[in-house]
Amino acid sequence: MATPGLDNAPTTHARLLAWVREMAELTTPDQVVWVDGTDEEWERLTQELVDAGTFTRLEKKPNSFWCASDPSDVARVEDRTYICSVDEADAGPTNNWMAPDEMKSVMTELYRGCMRGRTMYVIPFCMGPVEAENPMFGVELTDSEYVVVSMRVMARIGTYVLEAMGTDRPFVPAMHSLGAPLEPGQADVPWPCSSTKYIVQFPEERTIWSYGSGYGGNALLGKKCYSLRIASVMARDEGWLAEHMLILKLTSPQQKTYYVAAAFPSACGKTNLAMLEPTIPGWTVETLGDDIAWMRFGADGRLYAVNPEFGLFGVAPGTGWDTNPNAMRTIEQGNSVFTNVALTDDGDVWWEGMTDDAPAHLTDWKGRDWTPESGELSSHPNSRFCTPITQCPILAPEYSEPQGVPISAILFGGRRKTTIPLVTEARDWNHGVFMGATLSSETTAAATGAVGVVRRDPFAMLPFIGYNAGDYFRHWVETGKAHDAAQLPKIFYVNWFRRDADGGFLWPGFGENSRVLKWVVERLEGTAAAVETPVGHVPTADSLDVDGLDLSYEQLRKALAVDADEWRAEIPQITEWFQKFGDKLPSTLWDELAILEHRLS
Ligand code: GDP
Ligand code: PGA
Ligand code: MN
Ligand code: MN
Repeated sequence: MATPGLDNAPTTHARLLAWVREMAELTTPDQVVWVDGTDEEWERLTQELVDAGTFTRLEKKPNSFWCASDPSDVARVEDRTYICSVDEADAGPTNNWMAPDEMKSVMTELYRGCMRGRTMYVIPFCMGPVEAENPMFGVELTDSEYVVVSMRVMARIGTYVLEAMGTDRPFVPAMHSLGAPLEPGQADVPWPCSSTKYIVQFPEERTIWSYGSGYGGNALLGKKCYSLRIASVMARDEGWLAEHMLILKLTSPQQKTYYVAAAFPSACGKTNLAMLEPTIPGWTVETLGDDIAWMRFGADGRLYAVNPEFGLFGVAPGTGWDTNPNAMRTIEQGNSVFTNVALTDDGDVWWEGMTDDAPAHLTDWKGRDWTPESGELSSHPNSRFCTPITQCPILAPEYSEPQGVPISAILFGGRRKTTIPLVTEARDWNHGVFMGATLSSETTAAATGAVGVVRRDPFAMLPFIGYNAGDYFRHWVETGKAHDAAQLPKIFYVNWFRRDADGGFLWPGFGENSRVLKWVVERLEGTAAAVETPVGHVPTADSLDVDGLDLSYEQLRKALAVDADEWRAEIPQITEWFQKFGDKLPSTLWDELAILEHRLS
């Protein structure tokens, strides 16, 4: 019997039609639905999710929904994520690998009949503007309504994208299933998923296969899987950069504008910095992106960045009027999905850090009664808001310009209690690449596994480099060599998370990070002073604007300190890290390590 929806597709794109048919025949859904991206479709699907018990409509935010996942399906699963290159060496020492044929036979058996009792949705999407010279198309197949509505927020989707794909434009096929077929008469659960999970990239075929999870980073395949893992491979081949970076626009009191990109690991401050409200007079920040930057060189030799996304998928806890008022203003307008936060009795959302005092009663993310005495968090530490970027009140109008914006500075950063100063300027591009390649950070709840463990997270891309990380470092080195040094962005390393002996943060962070951005700009303009240290240029205590800041001189000194003993302890760790890459590691990085060692001795 023919599958409804399969034979009356709204396209004649032959490769797309053949692939949809092949996948529908394998997964045997009850019907195939082509996603058009209209408001009517959103109304219908969100109502279905409410009826299924997956969504609770919020009384206090228009067109917005509270959602609790299965407690086992709350974060990216790095141990289940694979780069299935033909040659194992191309996945490198930092990725899981399986031969593509072997992975395909394992997953084909998982996919066989896996959409039984469900609908297969076909989501045409485009990462970045459809008006781009080479629009970056993808098509996600999914059996999850949650994925469809989330993709509508996070990416450009629907009929206009399908039309732009024409009859033969290339696209990335992105296959997703929850892996939870329904037998006739079987009742569904609010959050179907499978205990078997695979998040798989085939870099040569530029194809994605995901199975078993509904969580954003595992299931919204335009984001991490396409825009980072697959795109990083395209970028290597084509001479550009696909990076885990926010993009912001900074305007000085003299009305000079600068675009800054910054890479921090997941849950280390990208969304907050991207939407920062400066505490120093006369400076403004506007947002262009909060998670991913695609950067290509322009004819003028400058590096131009585009945000391929269309929405914000932000960490909820810690987001409040004091810390990130622009995120609060963005979600207040509604049209948002909140996953694994708490629900208030009057139909709003709440999470730790939204307000100083918790409401007297909540429904927690596991659906249980919660009071401040419960002794547990009301919201999962990796709970998320999913909201349209166009609602951000400080969105820079040029965020959707296909050619992007010229980047003046790149910041790398992580979460380190010790060692790493508040801000350090690299001596040059290669030193900056060394900073990126050795970036370290404490693990967070954004991925399953232990939290708070220091690990190397090169360029904040450890979970997202779609090929051998040694080759990726080389790509960064070559990028520097191939372009005029004077036009390249300057590179900085920041750490908002250094702690005092009593465990408190040395630096107040959030809006006060504008002071660090100001120093960065003044370094670009050549006006701010710096001390040359073994690890790079660090602000002198009086070159950082701390006017009006409640921070003791002693605290500032500690935040900026370069402790030679702490750094010497990094050397064997960096050595061990570099050894992993064998002869893939560019020799310039060994040279940089030798320089560091020498300067510390
Ligand atoms: P992203 O995942 O990289 O986008 O990180 P977010 O901006 O969502 O921040 C992750 C967590 O770190 C949230 O709980 C924030 O409140 C917290 N955070 C962000 N910026 C700062 C900062 O400057 N200082 C401190 N102490 N915490 C921060
Ligand atoms: P984040 O995005 O970087 O904002 O946490 C999600 C992720 O990286 O998993
Ligand atoms: Mn991210
Ligand atoms: Mn974020």
